[in-house]
Amino acid sequence: MQNALDYLQRNQARFVAELCDFLRFPSVSAQPEHRPDMRACADWLASHCRQIGLETVVYPTDGHPIVLAKTPRGKNGSPRPQFLVYGHYDVQPPEPLELWNSPPFEARIEGRSIFARGATDNKGQLFAHLKAVEACMKTGTPLPCDLTFVIEGEEEVGSRSLAEFLKSHHHELDCDAIVISDTGMPDQNHPALTYGLRGVVAFEVTLHGPSHDLHSGTFGGAVDNPAMALCQLLGRLRDKNGRIAIPGFYDDVAPLSAYERKQFLRLPPKDAVLRKLLGVKRLFGERGFTSAERRSARPTLELNGLTSGYQGAGGKTIVPAWARAKVTCRLVPRQRPARIQKIVCRHLKKIRPPTMRLEIESGHGAEPYWVSPSVPQAQAALRALRQAFRCEPVLLREGGSIPIVTEFKKVLGADSLLLGLALPEDNAHAPNEKFDLDNFENGQRMSVLLWQELCRV
Ligand code: BES
Ligand code: ZN
Repeated sequence: MQNALDYLQRNQARFVAELCDFLRFPSVSAQPEHRPDMRACADWLASHCRQIGLETVVYPTDGHPIVLAKTPRGKNGSPRPQFLVYGHYDVQPPEPLELWNSPPFEARIEGRSIFARGATDNKGQLFAHLKAVEACMKTGTPLPCDLTFVIEGEEEVGSRSLAEFLKSHHHELDCDAIVISDTGMPDQNHPALTYGLRGVVAFEVTLHGPSHDLHSGTFGGAVDNPAMALCQLLGRLRDKNGRIAIPGFYDDVAPLSAYERKQFLRLPPKDAVLRKLLGVKRLFGERGFTSAERRSARPTLELNGLTSGYQGAGGKTIVPAWARAKVTCRLVPRQRPARIQKIVCRHLKKIRPPTMRLEIESGHGAEPYWVSPSVPQAQAALRALRQAFRCEPVLLREGGSIPIVTEFKKVLGADSLLLGLALPEDNAHAPNEKFDLDNFENGQRMSVLLWQELCRV
């Protein structure tokens, strides 16, 4: 194994150059004009996997292609442990472009950071695992298990195609566990095993008013304004204590145990650090809970975007014809996306302004996830983290969602080990996204060590 670790150390410069190549593809799954880039990125990734020595197939889907890459299977037929490594090559839209210090799809290295859209979420984290396997294969270090990389292009839009693919290909995806590096760690001295993720439901809420934009001087005052009406409607969804004011919203929420609350208190970042990082005057959230709890173990309703009327330079005196909000709810264990969708829609219809037509379009969803951090596989993962980072790892619940993990559990019956390498300051989903090169290297070492540790349990 030392040979593989030495190989990693010797090849960092090349790995970083290759990661730059990977980051150059504008693989934005949400934007239809990037379809050809998605295909090109999947093809590049597949040919890279083949170079490493993995048996690789690209599966086209109705959405974006799925890449499956396997370590060569032994011939003697004696069954070995099987693990999947999951990751995604799709990225979030890079907008607003003017806030980037360098173009989002021209990776730039500054100090120990690599800046590009997708650097941390998820190309860099995924690449750490690929490089670990490369190190084992190129140094003749025998892997104690069979690995299958499952790499999709629709994670950021709900993983619909992969969910279908799982059902039709479950026989070749049978495994003991899935390993995923697509989460975070609180800071560089705290590598982390994440044992809980929030779920999500998405809506687009539109209020339709007049049949066309109106002159606000001629007609304003005699007709309701959709932008104003939407603000008032949305304003009623949260009370002054930061609680979501939708009947039934908290009904199924699993309460936090006293033990978890105590653990949460020990984790960085402190509120003052968080406030600075986020650039806010004051933190805000549901009364009675700490920031760590609010960010990962409590449900939310957020506005992601608001659109109405004129958005260009200068003014334009109109009453807009419509107003639209993009809304998501984050969900915690025992809340079900379908039920939350139902009660949010029901409530919006109930409080709809009588002057408007209300349209609700439901988008992607993901169920919340929770797995016991005390099972032997989780303990093995903690040992690998400890050795690779030379620090004591922590247990986390996190606020983001990875839609496919509950599908893995349902279809394959296997749990996901979430071993994230992203830092809070990595700007995931934001301008100037970056990935830390020390985390990249430690992540590769963690991956090499992980397979040994997992096969000892
Ligand atoms: N890497 C994130 C998930 C994540 C973020 C986990 C932060 C833990 C902490 C992933 O790429 C992501 O952004 N997922 C989406 C899923 C959604 C579009 C269904 C998310 O959480 O918004
Ligand atoms: Zn993401």
